[in-house]
Amino acid sequence: MSKILIAPSILAADFGNLQRDVEMVNQSEADWFHIDIMDGVFVPNISFGMPVLKSIAQHAKKTIDVHLMIVDPDRYIKTFAELGSDILTVHYEACTHLHRTLQAIKAEGMKAGVALNPHTNVNVLEDTINDIDLVCLMSVNPGFGGQSFIENTHNKVLQLKELIMRKGASAQIEIDGGVTSKNAKQLAAAGADVLVAGSFVFKSSNQPKTIKELRAIANS
Ligand code: DX5
Ligand code: ZN
Repeated sequence: MSKILIAPSILAADFGNLQRDVEMVNQSEADWFHIDIMDGVFVPNISFGMPVLKSIAQHAKKTIDVHLMIVDPDRYIKTFAELGSDILTVHYEACTHLHRTLQAIKAEGMKAGVALNPHTNVNVLEDTINDIDLVCLMSVNPGFGGQSFIENTHNKVLQLKELIMRKGASAQIEIDGGVTSKNAKQLAAAGADVLVAGSFVFKSSNQPKTIKELRAIANS
């Protein structure tokens, strides 16, 4: 089994001490920065936009994984590339021409991700999985941090892993929402490659230790 990557979600960071929290991730055993962009239309919440991502990117020393929870993401692909995104994930539910969007993301030199809402079956990726670098399975309804993990995600990881193997694809599987030390091991065993963790990391009293422990549990 390959190593499971941990991606702390900056949505749960202290925005009054953003540089401190970015440095904490830099110094920790975390692998990626997970950055949630919400537009108040696709999801019922607004997070932050380009100026904040620009500041994060100036200090971040690890892969920047941007999760767009916005309608019509094609409008901003170039901008997110210029801001330093390494991976750009769009929602399946927000893309009328998903194949075209994936090509546009890759043309800007980024890895292309697709996120699926909890209600969306993994089979919708049957014809695009070979064009996808990362599938983000939402294990909560997107829009907010700190929600409870939806247990059916365990089944979806197995289904997605089966699809990837059957198609000879190389997409990584990322789990986003409600990840804790309680579900990390089962997710990894089912085939997850990347675990996003917001509240579990940033609400803990010793954040680097929590990251280290989550990583150890996932890889145990
Ligand atoms: C939810 C976001 C998640 C969120 C995860 O819409 O996409 O990335 O920040 O936060 P936790 O780990 O607190 O559920
Ligand atoms: Zn996210």
